[in-house]
Amino acid sequence: MSRAPLPAFYDDLDGTFAELWRLLADGAGHGRSGFHLPALATVGPDGPRLRTVVLRAADRAAGTLRFHCDRRSGKAADLHANPACALAAYDEAAKVQIRVEGRATLHTDDAVAEAAWTGSRPMSRVCYAAEPAPGTALPAGGAYMLPDETSAATLGRPHFAAVMVRAERLDLLYLDRRGHRRAAWRRAEAGWSGGWIAP
Ligand SMILES: Cc1cc2nc3c(=O)[nH]c(=O)nc-3n(C[C@H](O)[C@H](O)[C@H](O)COP(=O)(O)O)c2cc1C
Repeated sequence: MSRAPLPAFYDDLDGTFAELWRLLADGAGHGRSGFHLPALATVGPDGPRLRTVVLRAADRAAGTLRFHCDRRSGKAADLHANPACALAAYDEAAKVQIRVEGRATLHTDDAVAEAAWTGSRPMSRVCYAAEPAPGTALPAGGAYMLPDETSAATLGRPHFAAVMVRAERLDLLYLDRRGHRRAAWRRAEAGWSGGWIAP
């Protein structure tokens, strides 16, 4: 039975680290990637909270990920109270799971927020202008307002937050019948240090 060749990073720790960041950056750019829609975990007042977000950027040099949210949202409140967070995603084609743990910073009125807002598509901006705020109880399912895309450009901006996650721990799991590979890294003063671990 023929099998696909093993990926170049299979027994290459540095290659696996590079692959992790390549896959995240690819996920930020392409909707077809499993890394485009990671689950984001925060620490809520009653325990862990999990939801899907769109990965907007992944920067290997800085070791950061970016996503966007409404600053009135539950996740924004969680991160404001406790910046500890985690992201996890799996891509079926790559057979890779990536887990990221780190600390989040909410950017609302600085250059990071402005660049993220400017780079957002008009249709993405609309949800930030929704009234009432996300999470508000409604008398009926449709009892909320969304403005048109033109109004959203100004109405949504005060509610917009770009969230930068500074990764502190990374974990990649590659699935293969010939033997899974798992590696993990920690951020240290001198940079990332990592090694293979049992899958
Ligand atoms: C495919 C998909 C993508 C989503 N992307 C985002 C996102 O980028 N940012 C965001 O704040 N919420 C996003 N959401 C909505 C969240 O998953 C969540 O339902 C909502 O933000 C409320 O979460 P919270 O109460 O924990 O803040 C997305 C949901 C889905 C299904």
